[in-house]
Amino acid sequence: MLDNFVFGVATSAYQIEGGWDADGKVPSIWDEMSHTPGHVQNGHTGDIACDHYHRWKKDVHLMADLSIQAYRFSISWSRIMPEPPKKVNEKGIKFYQKLVNKLLDYDIKPFVTLYHWDLPKWLDDIGGWGNPDIIKHFKGFASVMFEALPDVEHWITFNEPAVFVNNSWGHHNYPEAVRNVLLAHGKTASHYKANYDGKIGISLNLMPFIPNDWESKKDLLAVENVSKRHNGIWLEPIFNGRFPDGINKLYNLKNKLFFTKEEKNIVKTSIDFLGINYYSCPTVKYNPYKPPVNAMFVNNDYLKDEMGVGIKPHGLYLICKQVKEKYGDIPLYITENGCAYNDVLTHDNKVHDRRRINYMKQHLAYCNLTVEKGIPLKGYFHWSLMNNFEWSFGYTKQFGLIDIHYPTLKRTPKDSYYWYKKIIKDEEFRKKEMEEL
Ligand code: FCB
Repeated sequence: MLDNFVFGVATSAYQIEGGWDADGKVPSIWDEMSHTPGHVQNGHTGDIACDHYHRWKKDVHLMADLSIQAYRFSISWSRIMPEPPKKVNEKGIKFYQKLVNKLLDYDIKPFVTLYHWDLPKWLDDIGGWGNPDIIKHFKGFASVMFEALPDVEHWITFNEPAVFVNNSWGHHNYPEAVRNVLLAHGKTASHYKANYDGKIGISLNLMPFIPNDWESKKDLLAVENVSKRHNGIWLEPIFNGRFPDGINKLYNLKNKLFFTKEEKNIVKTSIDFLGINYYSCPTVKYNPYKPPVNAMFVNNDYLKDEMGVGIKPHGLYLICKQVKEKYGDIPLYITENGCAYNDVLTHDNKVHDRRRINYMKQHLAYCNLTVEKGIPLKGYFHWSLMNNFEWSFGYTKQFGLIDIHYPTLKRTPKDSYYWYKKIIKDEEFRKKEMEEL
């Protein structure tokens, strides 16, 4: 059960590193946003975060002790590329080289994300993702990292473009940002494939929308509309070099989304694997008063985590199945899946996060079902290794397997950490836990 399966954990640079102006790092849009009152709950910033920039060795030891086989993290572009014409920042590069070498010492495979939302501010100042110049800047940054980290065998161009594009983080022009992200992805992936032997993919936060009533044609149409807007807008270009039919109408766009013939070929890069960040699976109902999608989400009685996200482990299988049915046998990884529960340290100096264990158990059981159904799901990365800066929620939401006591930065593995360790190491226990469901 889940043998030959990659068990991992995931993090991202801004959420854990801290060291926001250390060793030549320049500000990113998240430094700017968190330093501007009103953007982040309680005025929290990522200035120190988990201080992973200075405590990375300890963190890799904790990963090794957890027995994970792979670690997904992201590179802070602002550590590597100060505003031109200043040269590449060697100290930033060194940090990631040391990290990768240490991971490899412990046989932990690095899965490296190039962009997890923290655009250098100097790029935002020239229009960010809305300016086509960003394509060459992104490819340039990526090429520097490909050269600097030759032992990395798995690269991810973007994390959840839907989130940073829809939230206008790093741009002010929706259709241009969508196009430029996809073109930057395509150009970078084909450059990598032409010059290196490893694998390159992208991580999308896909959702398998469920009709409120399977018998209702209108609900099915509503599902189709929201799926095109949320999933299809990224999947169709990447797999087929085109936007979904009717997308401009569904987004009410005056400046249309389109690709020229040449761009189609750039975007359709044949990725080596697809990363799916799976969190939820909303129920959708037809609503004529909500044009142009004519759809609304229905509140249902799923249990929710402390972000208010409905817990629906079955959706993990559904989304993998949908991708296989539409796009064939592309290797899949769940590059994120996790839950916010604010369990705290108790008097025994432990964190008894039963609800997280239960959540993981159910989602891993659906990973197992997915594999058993012949879908090429290759691995699972739990979000997250440790509690961290949860974007506009600051430190108020806790997703980690490890507790962080922020005043001292002390790390304490939670019960879920020990449970996951046992799942990874002990085949019998894994079988027993999966079968219990
Ligand atoms: C995902 C993000 C990740 C984290 C989790 C909870 O959408 O990629 O950085 O915030 O949600």
